[in-house]
Amino acid sequence: MTAPLESVERLDADDPLRHFRTDFALRDGLIYLDGNSLGAMPKAALARMDTALRREWSEGLITSWLDADWVNAPRRVGDKIARLIGANAGEVIAADSTSVNIFKALTAALSLRPGRKVLLTETTNFPTDHYMMQGIAGFAGGTIESCAVPPEAVLDRLDDDVAVLLLTQVHYKTGRIHDMADITRRAHDVGALVIWDLSHSTGAIEVDLNAANADFAVGCGYKFLNGGPGAPAYIFAAERHHGARPVLSGWFGHARPFAFDEDYTAADGIERFLCGTPPVLGLTALECGVDIMLRADMRDIRRKSVALSALFIEQMESRCGEFGFALISPRDSDVRGSQVAFAHPEGYAIMQALKARGVIGDFRAPDVMRFGLTPLYQRYSDVTDTVEHLRQICDHREWDRAEYRIPAAVT
Ligand SMILES: Cc1ncc(COP(=O)(O)O)c(C=O)c1O
Repeated sequence: MTAPLESVERLDADDPLRHFRTDFALRDGLIYLDGNSLGAMPKAALARMDTALRREWSEGLITSWLDADWVNAPRRVGDKIARLIGANAGEVIAADSTSVNIFKALTAALSLRPGRKVLLTETTNFPTDHYMMQGIAGFAGGTIESCAVPPEAVLDRLDDDVAVLLLTQVHYKTGRIHDMADITRRAHDVGALVIWDLSHSTGAIEVDLNAANADFAVGCGYKFLNGGPGAPAYIFAAERHHGARPVLSGWFGHARPFAFDEDYTAADGIERFLCGTPPVLGLTALECGVDIMLRADMRDIRRKSVALSALFIEQMESRCGEFGFALISPRDSDVRGSQVAFAHPEGYAIMQALKARGVIGDFRAPDVMRFGLTPLYQRYSDVTDTVEHLRQICDHREWDRAEYRIPAAVT
């Protein structure tokens, strides 16, 4: 069954989020399905960055640390992100990359679980999560073990040797959602702490860290938060863990950075999870994206995300069923995040052909075509138009060209 044109038009006309599209700079004719990799640019960022460059940096120079409140940007943006993930003010700080924040969270958690030696994750987690665990284990010279088990074996592997369980809540390839509250409880039952990677959750699904009794969390600013390329990430530490020992003990995490003490004394609160000088321009752009997200109702975002992904799956199966696309995202929308992914042996070439037609998704090796659904700026017609492009590309083997097989540095 295919969606009749008029019903898709009605869905777009009745969409309570449709006005948000004008908050983003999107060129005419583009269908953008990659906001789970790099979100669209908030138009407000242009004027805001202009002020940050001309007035704050060029004219204000060093005085802008106080006059433009640069010094509080990590905490101010962190407090705003906290409202999106069920955390309290003072439990989130925006800084560094997700990878660096994973390191901070892992080592902080280890400091709270002396004597335990296992860092645990699932085998299909995002590579950087594995790499950060492996780096710590390597540095610890055998005293800490980095352990990855298949997703279905994680809960059985929990025992009193495990210091920390690190999981990504929404899987980066399939979009499968973990039950945060249940897994956190099971880990706590054996005395382990849990770090949630929220890179594909924040701004995409409803998250309630404190209701789940979460310990630590991290996530990207450049995906669903629309913070810009290389935007700062964020880290959450539940207030009860603010005594954890920071291993990345840089001067911005010091209790009195401008006392210039030679000995490190960690700041009392979430500021101890800062390290070096905050990336002010990146935080400025990120705040524009977060501000838009805060104006929307997360329940509307989730409702539309589920409707977009259900439409995508239904359309692919009814109009592209004969072309060999295998759905790898969960069919059950309760456990599917804001993306739909299909495996296809020619997925890379098909994605290049799609880009040539002005439809942007992405590809994850070895064969996954990933389509991010971003309810703030996508239309239902973007989904039906994408499926029509895919149908034509496959029908005419338009993907079967040498130039679509050339591997790119970023996919
Ligand atoms: C689940 C997940 N974690 C971490 C990262 C990497 O974050 P960063 O590049 O900020 O270190 C990504 C990037 O796509 C991701 O998808």
